[in-house]
Amino acid sequence: MNFQNKTIWITGASSGIGEALALEWASYKTKLILSGRNIEKLNLVKKNCEQKGAHCLVVSLDLTDQKSITKASKEVFTHHKSVDILVNNGGISQRSMAIETPIEVDRKVFDTNFFGAIALTKEVLPKMVKKGGGHIVVISSVVGKFGFPLRTAYSASKHALQGYFDSLRAEMTPDNIKVTMVSPGRIYTNISVNAIDKDGAKHGVMDTGQANGMPADVCAKKIIRAVRKKKKDILVGRLELLMVFFRKYLPVLYYRMASNVKPT
Ligand SMILES: NC(=O)c1ccc[n+]([C@@H]2O[C@H](COP(=O)([O-])OP(=O)(O)OC[C@H]3O[C@@H](n4cnc5c(N)ncnc54)[C@H](OP(=O)(O)O)[C@@H]3O)[C@@H](O)[C@H]2O)c1
Repeated sequence: MNFQNKTIWITGASSGIGEALALEWASYKTKLILSGRNIEKLNLVKKNCEQKGAHCLVVSLDLTDQKSITKASKEVFTHHKSVDILVNNGGISQRSMAIETPIEVDRKVFDTNFFGAIALTKEVLPKMVKKGGGHIVVISSVVGKFGFPLRTAYSASKHALQGYFDSLRAEMTPDNIKVTMVSPGRIYTNISVNAIDKDGAKHGVMDTGQANGMPADVCAKKIIRAVRKKKKDILVGRLELLMVFFRKYLPVLYYRMASNVKPT
């Protein structure tokens, strides 16, 4: 795929993987739509992307709020006829034991990571079909492939994305809709800092695993390469990706490791 002049809508573009994707795609002279709640941060990303030759539109969006999603979509489609690539990236992680976590916190994680992504996809999909095709990129997680302590709702929301978008891909293949499912391992971003605890408050800690993770710009390059090659399902990360293979081929080892792991 040649990205030049392609319209690419990225959620969670104000930080981490989303910001890195925006900066990387900017050098292909793309038309970027940058979404999230932090407009100040998005405007900064916009400025940096425009310096690299992209055309940018900042559109405020709260993934937990259907009205905000509909409003954002209306705004986008007054500026653009369609979207070539939608990147469902915005999300929050969790650091809490299930037994201590009120259902409202679980719902917040699902509203952000799952329902937000599918609500936005439903806004964009008819336009893609009308245009003759499009590409949806979904940022799930390795914990969308297996479970991990302190991440019950997070892991479940990422599993849900995999089931939903695998099914959507199968349904929409005749309409030339591509889906790239991305399962990152540990990427060095603020995900653990922004994760919510049992009270729904910010965890506020940069986990050691996160700090030693793959740099976000390296992750972004790998995602963009996968989109260019129209890959259906990719893992991005380092040694932690082995857990995916243990879960599948050596489940006994996975069960032992997952219940003995000291989670952070
Ligand atoms: N970093 C990792 O190791 C890792 C591993 C696996 C998967 N992932 C996934 O990668 C994606 C990006 O995370 P990251 O690592 O880049 O973390 P991050 O730096 O915390 O970025 C999260 C992004 O999501 C946006 N977001 C959060 N809640 C939102 C809401 N209610 N509405 C709209 N946007 C919202 C934030 O934007 P605003 O604050 O501006 O709203 C922010 O731009 C997430 O889906 C995450 O689950 C990350």
